[in-house]
This record gives sequence, structure tokens and C-alpha cells, in this order.
Amino acid sequence: MTINEIRTKYLKFFEARRHTIIPSAPIVPQNDPTTLFTGSGMQPLITYLLGAPHPQGNRLVNSQKSFRAEDIEEVGDNRHTTFFEMLGNWSLGDYFKKEQLPWFFEFLTKEIGLDTQKLYVTVFIGDEKNNVPRDTESAEIWQKLFADKDIEAKVVEVGSEADGYRLGMQEGRIFFYDASKNWWSRAGVPENMPAGEPGGPDSEVFYDFGTPHDPKFGPECHPNCDCGRFLEIGNSVFMQYLKQPDGSFELLPKQNVDFGGGLERIAAAAQNNPDVFAIDVFADTIGLLIHFSGKEYTDSRYTRSFRIVADHMRAATFMLGAGVRPANTERGYVLRRLLRRAAQHAQKLGVEHGEGKESMLVKCAVNFIEKYKQAYPELVSEEVYQIISDEIWKEEKQFAHTLESGMREFEKVAQAGHISSDDAFVLFTTYGFPFEMTLELAHERGIDVDEDGFATAMKKHRELSRAGSEQKFKGGLADTSEKTTRLHTAHHLLLKALQIVLGPTVKQRGSNITQERLRIDFSYGAKMTLEQLKEVERIVNEKIAEALPMIHSTLPKEEAEKLGAEHEFGAKYPDMVSVYALGPKGATKANPQLDKAFSIEFCGGPHVSNTKEIGEGGTFKIQKEEAVAAGIRRIKAVLTD
Ligand code: ALA
Repeated sequence: MTINEIRTKYLKFFEARRHTIIPSAPIVPQNDPTTLFTGSGMQPLITYLLGAPHPQGNRLVNSQKSFRAEDIEEVGDNRHTTFFEMLGNWSLGDYFKKEQLPWFFEFLTKEIGLDTQKLYVTVFIGDEKNNVPRDTESAEIWQKLFADKDIEAKVVEVGSEADGYRLGMQEGRIFFYDASKNWWSRAGVPENMPAGEPGGPDSEVFYDFGTPHDPKFGPECHPNCDCGRFLEIGNSVFMQYLKQPDGSFELLPKQNVDFGGGLERIAAAAQNNPDVFAIDVFADTIGLLIHFSGKEYTDSRYTRSFRIVADHMRAATFMLGAGVRPANTERGYVLRRLLRRAAQHAQKLGVEHGEGKESMLVKCAVNFIEKYKQAYPELVSEEVYQIISDEIWKEEKQFAHTLESGMREFEKVAQAGHISSDDAFVLFTTYGFPFEMTLELAHERGIDVDEDGFATAMKKHRELSRAGSEQKFKGGLADTSEKTTRLHTAHHLLLKALQIVLGPTVKQRGSNITQERLRIDFSYGAKMTLEQLKEVERIVNEKIAEALPMIHSTLPKEEAEKLGAEHEFGAKYPDMVSVYALGPKGATKANPQLDKAFSIEFCGGPHVSNTKEIGEGGTFKIQKEEAVAAGIRRIKAVLTD
């Protein structure tokens, strides 16, 4: 079964159950300053999961293009990819467990034809501390579904992942795990969720490939074991709870289902082959690489490189199609990293590339355009095709130059007879010379590399460097740290302060927030003077010192607009919108006094609950003000001691 067939079957299956098919949101999120890439199907739907009515009803289904940068290093095994399609269906306060679980089971067993004997499921064990009960209902539904197929499904207790490695399968079919495995939110476990974030218990389905357990991962195998025997193919999240400012959990106004299933993984299960790279979308690309390299995919010295080139070129194709260009920061940096790693591994395979030869990487991209153009017409136009091939070619050439100068530097430092962590670090950061290449070359010459020292230096570098941001963009939020949340609220103060100083025509035109700094793009026709910058800083710091409460409300759109709530130019909003208001002093959720707020914006959060928490991060300081386009200025600001 091909990816296209499975995608169509899934959409039709849920359409027949009165779901509206909605298009995939772009892989580069709109109006969401907290994240670089769309990493799950629910991300673009967050406002609706929080309770706003969706214009297309309360049953939705789609296949969402997703990218998870944090998985880059994992690519190379048989199941991790950075780009993937997430099949998703949602109930916005409509159906719940007793519809969702049987539907997904029916889809897997009837539509895809998976062997029921190979399916294992997990459910939530409960969390007393947070007052979330054990999910016996899902366990009972699963038991009945298996019983209907003449399988007596034994229910077993596990707890944590570590418990799983100790307890093993226990002849179970239905496994109770704790929140580390069976709770889903964009921020992960309940403790990591910021106030205002929705989440809930979930129930996952695993496919058993029956491969022998690899004890390297732990003494006993269990569904959440990483040895590769089991593959998670779908997750039904019962998105019922909202984290409160005091850390407790309350039920959301509506009880939602947020289902996500990896399309590529379901295709791998359908083939009963644990290698996701053996599915149809990768076949031509890998075939091409085999042809031009003369290497075998099954040769264990090369399998990883085949997979890295295939994965990275697919992801890069979609990113280029979405308008991302190689650069040294943020999205562009992630794309550059994908292209360079692909180039490096293509070289390892011995695939010719370089001046005068047709680029192998462009060929891979063309293959992916062919595979996906039917489902994603944005890849079809001649113009996009040209951009994709030009950009890849440009980056490849630039990387070839980088490697040349890196090689010269390597030869120089290698004279010492070993490579110190400093040398490896400088090679990597200054010359852009991949550490893997340093290792390989050193290995060929029989000289040592201080790998541990390099790892330590890199860790420090990542913590300091903005370019390491992809590490932090887990599952949708930039991260869930207090630092990012403080800066997000400071961003609201800043926009208002700019309007006070420069005039009410100032509008936000873009934003991006990491742990280290915030960035805002706004409409204004001239360079700001030093006095204006000082005044903006002063206002923001004054409001931080005033300890204004941040109040979250959900309101009809017209009402929010009447209140003058800031919103993104040209964006479409639902009838009910989520709004964050700063101040006045004494405002509460019950009595928000929105007409007296200092600042009010359409926003999905998260935020600190009082501006004084921003002050704990330091004093607000503008680092830079510059032009980014005609009539658009950019400010970068930090909280500093
Ligand atoms: N949102 C859930 C996930 O990403 C379905 O796994």
C-alpha cells in the first residue's frame, strides 16, 4: 500500500464518519511566535482545542506535514525521520473514547488490514498528585475490541519506562503506563506544562514486528522499548485538561480527542517491515543513490547514510517549498544543516557531485516533488521547482568550499598527532567542518580525537548559542522554560510601548522568541532614535515593576476587536478568540476589566501570570533596532542583569 493510498483511505474513513477534511497547515507556522516548525497536527488547531468553535465543525480530519528538528540526530535508524505526515482526527467536544478507539482499531484492522495479533496498546495509569484518574474506560474498550477478534487481552501494570524494562511483557496486551508515556501535551508531562496549556491522558497503539529484543536497551522488552520490535503507530489523546496558574489541572470546557498517527509508520506496519525507509516514497530516491553510488542499501556500513540523505532531502524539499532558505539562524539554519548533512552523507556513499556534474541532491529533491505533487500541489509550479533546485545546488557548492578550507585546517592541526577538543570545536564552529568528518579522517590516519571534550564544548555552545534553537523546539513550544514565557509576555509589553512612543499605526509584522531573546518585526518607516529606544525600554521596565496581572479570556471575535485587541494583519480568526490582557492592577479572571488593560492581544499563550515574574529574569534591554524590509523594522531585546 502506498502513502497516497493510506492517506486517502484515512481521510475517507473519517469523512464517512462525518468529519470535515481540512488542509494541512504550512510546515512553517503562521501567527505562532513560539515555534519554528509545525510538529504535529494539533498545533495549528490549538485555539479550537482550547474551546473556540471551529468554522468547519467539531469533527475534523487531515494529514499534516510535520517536522521535528529534535530528531535530526536520530535519523539513520530504521524508524526516525525529521519530516513526516501526521494523520489526525479531532473531536472538538464531540465524540470521545468509545468512538475514537473502535474507529482507529477498525481503520487499522479493516482498512489497512493489519493483523490484530500484532497490535498492542497502552493506557494511562492515573496521576494522584494531579488528580487525574486512571483510564479504566479505555482499557475496557480495548479489551472488548480484542475480544471481538477472539483475543483475550490481558491487562498489565507497568508504570514508568524503567519499570517496563524490568517487568517486560507479562503476557499483556493492554499496558498501563504513567504520565511519562501516556500523557500528551505540547510541553510533555504535566509538570512541564505552562499555565494555559491543554493536555491529557492518551492511549497508544503499537505494532509488533516480532524482531528479537535487543538487550542493549534493557533486560526485558515492552511496548515502549526502543529496541525496534514495537513501533508506535497512533496516539489518541484525550485532551481534557487545562493547566492552571497555581499548577493544578482543571477540565477544559470541552472534552476533545486529538489523534495523531505517523503515516510513514502505518505504511511500514502495512508492509510488516520495520524499516520506514522501505516504504514507497523513499524507493526511487534510495534506488537512485544505489545506482549512482554502486553501494548496497543493506551494507551496514552505508545504510545510515542512505537513510540520512533520503530523509534530509525530503524534509529540505518541503522546507524550500514553504519558502525557507538556507541561512545561519533559525529555520534557515535547520535547512542548511539538513542540506549539508545530506551532502556529507552523499559524499560518504561516494556519489559524485560538484561543479559540472548534475547534483545528486537535486535529483533526490525532484524525486520527492514527483511523489508528493498530487497531495501537495504547492510543490508543482515551475517556479518552485526552479527555486528548490537552485537553492540546493548553491548550498552544495558553498559546502564544498567549506569542506576544502576545513580540510586544510584539519591537515594543519592533525600534525600534532592528535585532535584536541578545541581543534575539533574550532573546525566545527569556525570552518563548518562536520565533527563526523573530523572523526573519520582522524580514524583513517590512526590519530585520537578528544570526543568527550568536544561533546562538553558543544553542549556549552548550544546552551549559549541561538543557533542551537532547534534543540529547544520540542513538540511545538519554543520550550516550556520560564525564560521563554517571560520573554513572550515582555513581547506584549514591548509592542504596546512601541505604539505609545511611535504612534498607534505601529503593527506587529512578525515575531520570534527563544530562551535568550525576543524579536519583533513591526511597521514603522524610519530608524528609531536613541531617545525613542530609551523611552520604550523605560515604559516596559516600568510596567514590569508595576506587577500587572496577565489575564486570559476567551471572547467573541467582535468583542475582542472592539476592545482594540492586537491581531496579526490579514490572519483569519475563529468566532471565539483567545485573548491575553495585561493589567489593570487588581484585574482577575472573574473580573478582567479588559477595557482598562494596558495591553491586549489575540494570542494563544503561554504567559507569566504577573509582569513581576519578567523582572525575575532581569532588566528589559533592547539590543538592536534595524530595518528588515521597506517600512518594517526589527527589534531584538533581552532580559539581562
Ligand atoms: N498530538 C498528538 C501527538 O502529536 C496526537 O502525538
